[in-house]
Amino acid sequence: MSRNTVALIAAALTFMSAGAGYVPEGWNLAAREKFAEQRFGIFIHWGIYANYAQGEWYQQQIGIDTETYGRMKDGFCPSKFDAKEWVRVFKDAGAKYVTITSRHHDGFSLWPTKADDGYNIAETPFRRDILGELAKACGEAGLQLNFYYSLMDWHRKDYPAGSAAKKVFGDQKGDYESYKRFMLAQMGELIDSYRPGVIWLDGEWEHARRRKDGTWSRTLDWDFDTIYDFIHSKNVLVANNNHQPIRPKEDIQLFERDLPGEGEMFSKNQPLAHDRPVEQCDVIQKGVWGYKINERTFRTPEEVCAMICRCAAKDSNLLMNIGPDGSGRLPAPAVGVMADVGKWMRANGDAIYATRGLGLVKNADGSETGKTRKGDDIYTITIAKGAFPSVERNLQQGSH
Ligand code: GLC
Repeated sequence: MSRNTVALIAAALTFMSAGAGYVPEGWNLAAREKFAEQRFGIFIHWGIYANYAQGEWYQQQIGIDTETYGRMKDGFCPSKFDAKEWVRVFKDAGAKYVTITSRHHDGFSLWPTKADDGYNIAETPFRRDILGELAKACGEAGLQLNFYYSLMDWHRKDYPAGSAAKKVFGDQKGDYESYKRFMLAQMGELIDSYRPGVIWLDGEWEHARRRKDGTWSRTLDWDFDTIYDFIHSKNVLVANNNHQPIRPKEDIQLFERDLPGEGEMFSKNQPLAHDRPVEQCDVIQKGVWGYKINERTFRTPEEVCAMICRCAAKDSNLLMNIGPDGSGRLPAPAVGVMADVGKWMRANGDAIYATRGLGLVKNADGSETGKTRKGDDIYTITIAKGAFPSVERNLQQGSH
């Protein structure tokens, strides 16, 4: 049994004694380990918002009603979409998995779901099953596919609007039992049809606020026990990007745009759990997840490699986002960056994949030193501004 497994079992027992009573099963612990070994994934934010080309929050930001915004469904026909080509770019970059928005906050689904009122890819002129094509291409290339799934919804009448959705719906009370049935039906379809490794939830935060005294004020009881038990019953991992301390049944700890345990953006209130795999997600196109036509600043390959190294040193995965445009193409600058990241990963991947993080320190000259370990090998990674990280391999002291 690996140290990781022992730590996870110990953590599970702690939770039991704390009354939560949840003990992850063997498949779950194995899946967590496999997830952590992958270390680098590509996040994809894509939906009809790509046509508006103003990021994935456009509908809410301009305060447009769902009916008017949703008409873009009739104009969503990404003729250049080629799942195989996307996957070639991701694999070439050294990514081991892909997490795509099956349905983002605007409520539009990228697969021909039977659970909704026709707000999905089957009802566009494109009609093709985007998730199905991506699942097939990922399967052929040996990449794991995961699904982002939005808890918040800016389309359905049964969704109880929280602080962000109120800008779209006003004070919509909704009917959470009905909305939950819909979500469970959709998650069932997603899992049964495409066999993802992880369901990655997002949007809970619009119903939760941390008070000054450290307690949480909540405006919706999501009944996560039912949702998590359902996902687990199908042998799929649960992650929730809720910007809150992690719960026993959440399998992966997520940090949005913050280095794990160093919350400056969204994760100020998330102490590092230490007993779960960790993933930091971040953007390649400045400030947005969905494609934005007038945002020309992209991260450089040096920056992306530095981020991968910082994460690995902190025992975390990096999930780097790309927002494809309305034609179905990955933005050209992102493709160029990924090609260079791939070159670095081919030369230095031993210091990253399947390692454990030993920490990251800042040096007096502004550079950083990260350390990772695999077996008896210790990797020392030097990260300096504007340069690709450099890697040195040493044998652990005392081993021969
Ligand atoms: C935030 C944003 C969302 C994005 C997500 C990715 O929660 O609301 O647009 O999908 O972060 O981490």
